[in-house]
Amino acid sequence: MGSIRIDEALKRAKEQLKEVSERPLFEAELLLAYALGKDRVYLHTHPEAEVPWHFWGLVQRRAAYEPLEYITGRVSFFGQEFLIEPGVLIPRPETERLIEELAPWLRGDERVVEIGVGSGVISTILKLKFPNLHIVATDINPKAMALAKKNFRRFGVDVEVRFADLDEGVGECDVIVSNPPYIAKEFPLPPNVAKYEPKEALFGGERGDELLERIIGRFLRSSAKILACEMGFDQKEAIQRHFGDFDGKLVFYKDLAGLDRGFIARKR
Ligand SMILES: C[S@@+](CC[C@H](N)C(=O)[O-])C[C@H]1O[C@@H](n2cnc3c(N)ncnc32)[C@H](O)[C@@H]1O
Repeated sequence: MGSIRIDEALKRAKEQLKEVSERPLFEAELLLAYALGKDRVYLHTHPEAEVPWHFWGLVQRRAAYEPLEYITGRVSFFGQEFLIEPGVLIPRPETERLIEELAPWLRGDERVVEIGVGSGVISTILKLKFPNLHIVATDINPKAMALAKKNFRRFGVDVEVRFADLDEGVGECDVIVSNPPYIAKEFPLPPNVAKYEPKEALFGGERGDELLERIIGRFLRSSAKILACEMGFDQKEAIQRHFGDFDGKLVFYKDLAGLDRGFIARKR
């Protein structure tokens, strides 16, 4: 086969991505722009330009359900571009809500522990918003810890990363924030998630809320004043149960789809 022009390649790639993507042309454009090292505007201003062969390898990977973010190594979160790698959970837009909900409760100089740092998006955005926070971020996945450190360097924020089960051994803090794994073990996931994303970032146990229950228990026994967590859309009642006769404020928030998605708890 001879060389192929950008406009034709996009048509073909769109066909190949129709099964896996709701926006096949857009994703084909992102992959081609990535393959060329150009932005998407270039594709439209140079429709006759030649397409490099390795573009088709990228399209094949995406057609096998690999998430676009793992192929390009980039993910957008809270208006910023973060590095992402296979083996680390791809941050989701709904997690931006956790930061928006927590922000008004902060003075800006607290000691914060983030449990389950993943790629580091939550701690990074918190530090960019509140540079005087002192944040320690934990994970049990060394790949996540290494990537979080890269993202902290990328944004020039100072966050300490520790290998720890939840906040074990981290010491006292004022605020705990977490987007923990909260999916139930048997919950059916789409192939891009099930095949490619790390299990320890997704599943919270048989019911799903086991890790949240442990985090709440540790918060209640600690001297921390505030706990902010993302949770599953059907876990509000379970969370209320885990708080028992909590003597403080417990506020739930919803995601952009109107589903229960998290909570902020503040002790008296
Ligand atoms: C849902 S991901 C969230 C990642 C990132 N904070 C975000 O919002 O995109 C949950 C993270 O918790 C980590 N994790 C799972 N169990 C843990 C535990 N017992 N202690 C600390 N981190 C844990 C996983 O490795 C994963 O990186």
